[in-house]
Amino acid sequence: MKAIILRKPAGLDHLESVTLADPEAPGAGQIRVRIHASSLNYHDLGVVLGHLPTSDGRIPMSDGAGVVEAVGEGVTEFAVGDSVVSGFFPQWLDGAPPIADFSTTPGDGVDGYAREYVVLPAHWFTHAPKGYSHAEAATLTTAGLTAWRALVVDGNLKPGDSVLVLGTGGVSIFALQFAKQMGATVIATSSSDAKLERVRALGADHVINYRRDEKWAVKVLEYTGGRGVDHVVEVGGPDTLKQSIRACRIGGHIALIGVLTGVAGPLPTATLMTRQQKLQGLVVGSRRQQIEMIRAIEATGLKPVIDRTVELDAIAEAFRYQADGKHFGKICLSI
Ligand SMILES: NC(=O)c1ccc[n+]([C@@H]2O[C@H](COP(=O)([O-])OP(=O)(O)OC[C@H]3O[C@@H](n4cnc5c(N)ncnc54)[C@H](OP(=O)(O)O)[C@@H]3O)[C@@H](O)[C@H]2O)c1
Repeated sequence: MKAIILRKPAGLDHLESVTLADPEAPGAGQIRVRIHASSLNYHDLGVVLGHLPTSDGRIPMSDGAGVVEAVGEGVTEFAVGDSVVSGFFPQWLDGAPPIADFSTTPGDGVDGYAREYVVLPAHWFTHAPKGYSHAEAATLTTAGLTAWRALVVDGNLKPGDSVLVLGTGGVSIFALQFAKQMGATVIATSSSDAKLERVRALGADHVINYRRDEKWAVKVLEYTGGRGVDHVVEVGGPDTLKQSIRACRIGGHIALIGVLTGVAGPLPTATLMTRQQKLQGLVVGSRRQQIEMIRAIEATGLKPVIDRTVELDAIAEAFRYQADGKHFGKICLSI
């Protein structure tokens, strides 16, 4: 089978197209999946650029979607021909998070989905939403589930709530879509006016160019009558968190998700305390949460925003396009 591997010392020039042996027939509890699509995340970019240490020869990509081609003994959840999508934490099935690292995450601690076939335990996958293409399904593993968990699971989002999303990458656009579908008001930021027009078309109620309006939190307060938003989907990290705290209402919820501006920094702890906000770190979610998100997607008909889909061999170009911040929503790979 065809696959992409990442050679040491990593970097986009060290992504190599190779031919590997096809996997064996599935054993008990396993399924064989023909992977048809993946999607790019900031995390995958970190892996391929070598910011996250992985083994030499690692197959990248955390997201995978395709068709079940064979099922092993004892597998009852899936049948041959089912469309499936992978999970970010294969061992986290339900309940509280049991893990605080990426040692079990495909495309990081273990091999991922930049390949044509896998044979894996059935619980590494869930059914894909009915009516979804493989590329659409492949956007859910990381970006979709992170946005869903931030707002619905941890945030307990309600109709009438207000949500601030930062930038127009995969997680933020999903958060915008989930929030609008659930009857929330959305304020969206971007560095690009052209992208802000597109978020308006997706239903954003207010938009802010964070380059032009460097004090964007003040704008958020204006748009919310001085109150602040109920939820912030915080993908920026240290350089945006101070303003996110300012833009969030007293007692509001900040889902701390991203590292776009770095991995550590000073925090106005007294402001966070006096504003009595909930600052909740999170990493993607469980299999149960993915199943619940997919049920909601089937009920509402939500479709992900895919900027473009490119062939697996163009993986390095796709990552360059992402690193340049040219994309809006998701970039997918066709495998
Ligand atoms: N904790 C988790 O479970 C989890 C899961 C997924 C992702 N993440 C993290 O969340 C972040 C976003 O991931 P992604 O995959 O959605 O990334 P992505 O698709 O690559 O999106 C990046 C976008 O972020 C925006 N951005 C960059 N700097 C910004 C800033 N200073 N303020 C506001 N927006 C900024 C840009 O939007 P514009 O072009 O519109 O300016 C850029 O296009 C990353 O840090 C990633 O590691 C965490």
